[in-house]
Amino acid sequence: MESEQDTPFEPKPIVALDEIVINRIAAGEIIQRPANALKELIENCLDAGAKSIRVSVKDGGLKLLQIQDDGCGIRHADLPILCQRFTTSKLRTFSDLETIATYGFRGEALASISHVAHVSVLTKTKEGNCAWKANYSDGVLIPLRPGESPEPKSAAGNQGTTIIVEDLFFNVPTRRKALKSTSDEFSRILDVVTKYSIHNPSVSFMCKKAGQAAPVLSTPCLSTSAQTIRIVHGPTLAKELLHLPKTKNTQFEFEFEGWLTGANWNTKRSGGFLVFINHRLVDCPRLKKAVEALYSVILPKGTYPWVYIDLLIKPENVDVNVHPTKSEVHFLNEEEIIEAVCETVQEVLIGANSSRTYSTQPQNTVQQGSDPHHDSDPEFEEEEPREVKNLPTFGTNSGTYGGSKPSSTRIVSRSSTQQSNPAHKVRVDPTVRTLDSMFAPLNSKISTIVPPESAPIKRRRIDERVESEEGDEDENKSKANIEDDADMSEDEVEWVNEEVNTRTIDETKQKSNRERGISGGGLVRTSECRLTSIVRLRNLVKEKRHNLVSEIIKDHKFVGIVSCERTQSLIQHNTKLYLVNHAAIADELFYQLGLCQFGEIGKIRLDPPAEIKPLLKLAIVLEEDVPEERREATIQMIEQRLIERREMLDEYFSLTITEDGRIESIPLLLEGYTPDLNRLPEFLMRLGPGVDWSDEEACFESFLRELAYFYIPLPLLPSDETDATRDKERELESFQIEHVIFPALRRHLRPSKSLLKGGHITQVANLPDLYKVFESDLL
Ligand SMILES: Nc1ncnc2c1ncn2[C@@H]1O[C@H](COP(=O)(O)OP(=O)(O)OP(=O)(O)O)[C@@H](O)[C@H]1O
Ligand SMILES: [Mg+2]
Repeated sequence: MESEQDTPFEPKPIVALDEIVINRIAAGEIIQRPANALKELIENCLDAGAKSIRVSVKDGGLKLLQIQDDGCGIRHADLPILCQRFTTSKLRTFSDLETIATYGFRGEALASISHVAHVSVLTKTKEGNCAWKANYSDGVLIPLRPGESPEPKSAAGNQGTTIIVEDLFFNVPTRRKALKSTSDEFSRILDVVTKYSIHNPSVSFMCKKAGQAAPVLSTPCLSTSAQTIRIVHGPTLAKELLHLPKTKNTQFEFEFEGWLTGANWNTKRSGGFLVFINHRLVDCPRLKKAVEALYSVILPKGTYPWVYIDLLIKPENVDVNVHPTKSEVHFLNEEEIIEAVCETVQEVLIGANSSRTYSTQPQNTVQQGSDPHHDSDPEFEEEEPREVKNLPTFGTNSGTYGGSKPSSTRIVSRSSTQQSNPAHKVRVDPTVRTLDSMFAPLNSKISTIVPPESAPIKRRRIDERVESEEGDEDENKSKANIEDDADMSEDEVEWVNEEVNTRTIDETKQKSNRERGISGGGLVRTSECRLTSIVRLRNLVKEKRHNLVSEIIKDHKFVGIVSCERTQSLIQHNTKLYLVNHAAIADELFYQLGLCQFGEIGKIRLDPPAEIKPLLKLAIVLEEDVPEERREATIQMIEQRLIERREMLDEYFSLTITEDGRIESIPLLLEGYTPDLNRLPEFLMRLGPGVDWSDEEACFESFLRELAYFYIPLPLLPSDETDATRDKERELESFQIEHVIFPALRRHLRPSKSLLKGGHITQVANLPDLYKVFESDLL
């Protein structure tokens, strides 16, 4: 026998819910907090063709939310059913939804609000003789004062509508309790007004706290989105704005336009992603994710860009009726649309990259322990924001979102900039990207900082000569093969491959290096060498290593190249800035790399091999102290010497010379780095007088010194090349200096004190001291 406890649940009778309960539950879905109510009210104003929308808020909208517009007003006859559920002037048949061009369509918003708050309306149409005042509760008219008739009362008033919502959620205590912070609710309200003001620049928006005279936000009418963004977000963000140009796709029938920040601006708040689809402010998580992924390569981790995308899709392809708050829409061809937007965003970011100018930046560094760009205001050249023109809609009723003309701006009331003590702003983490490197995106499409066509012109001359005499360049292109460098993205490596298209690396040696775990720019392992001369030279380097200089080099942060002509760069170590002669330091680096890998250096193969004699002939012309008549003999002698020592040169230095005097390979001291082959003749020439061939140790040392000198980035000398050509050379050189040489210095150099003494590393600023000077100047 079953006890009473064991009895399964008895089904309870199903009863129809009380209408008030139904409406209150339904209202809870649409109006979740004051900001939702405000969004609905703003949309009603815009649907009514308002040009001015004024919002007044008390206690975060919980006590009072008042919104006044100058739109078409509400007809007197419609007032009795204004707050009834499913009463609307915007939709007649279900199929109208396919081409809906108004925000509203359900006739539910005002009804919902009236079920959870006290609602008063004051409205006047153009034709009406007077304004009308009405109060609502639970969807129906109620008397203005107890004992009076609930009918609307005539009143004085201008054309348009004022809706007053009081005591929101007075009858939903759980909801009310959940919304504790009125300031949080106010900022959500402000956020809604801000976003709608950006998207509707032809409408004037004002938002203020009730009882305060000054608005918190105010925008003019007949403005542009760019101007409005500047007004509501301040100049810090505005000056980093990039225009997402209007892009049309006829195949899938959509178009978009917008504004977004570039690499110099970011925020830790994630709310700066505005997507309007057919003028509706919606969450579009997939689009957001895809766009933010593009930024992940140029912004510090954990920070976000500011993006505004105005996307218009053929209304038939959009389903707006999917979410109670209308914050989501479904649309066809989502993938294609997202891809198209991302493509254009990417192009814009690339364009910004190439058009930017690095100006004075030493102090423009990062706050200790924080990311490098947060709320920073780097002095990049400002791009003049272009005007966003109002977009045509695909659907009918496009007049709702009529055109706009720019006008003067009004009150600048808000700025998102947080101030921090600039004296404490130092870039302390060497792994944090430099300002320059932010423009070297790692993504394949963005990777154009050194485009393939920016081939080093100087190199071409030699390659061309070799080519014309020896064979076809194209055949050799595929032979290029350089291993990934730890500091280089795949595409950057690809680019290097294209540059070295006439050379290949000796695969056998490279393979053996790989087997030993050597990866050029990454690890450089010291070769096993028992030659006393080499052991001595290596010990000398170790002995001369200076602790302080080592620390500076090892933990430095690359700030930027000051001058390619003077081979000067700026680096930062802790709070100190150093001016370094990068050529001089690289000289020591390449010498040490040669010494370290002695006997096991990788090879850069010249394919086809380069004849020594013609190269020496080129070089000797510059040797003023060799008289004309002795030139031929000098060339003979140097060539002979190199051929005679070819075995040794190959075994120890990977300089491979054929019996008949052709260079098959040159040493690969640092993977990812190719010396300027235009200097090969000079290098060969110097191997004559510059190397002491008589003594083993002196020979190795002097050879390695000459080799290092061949590898360093020399000052760019005046030449008859065109500006564009020189720009390309400079761009290539800068890339190698920043992305190959400096990372290698950090990893491999054992610097001696002579670098300090020789003036190759000079402290130029100590940030705290600088700020002290500024502060005392200001006092
Ligand atoms: N500010 C306003 N100016 C003019 N008419 C308005 C205004 N606000 C509301 N109305 C009128 O009241 C009707 C009901 O508004 P409500 O917001 O409840 O529904 P809706 O906008 O039609 O649809 P939805 O529920 O999707 O917003 C509207 O259709 C419109 O005719
Ligand atoms: Mg509405």
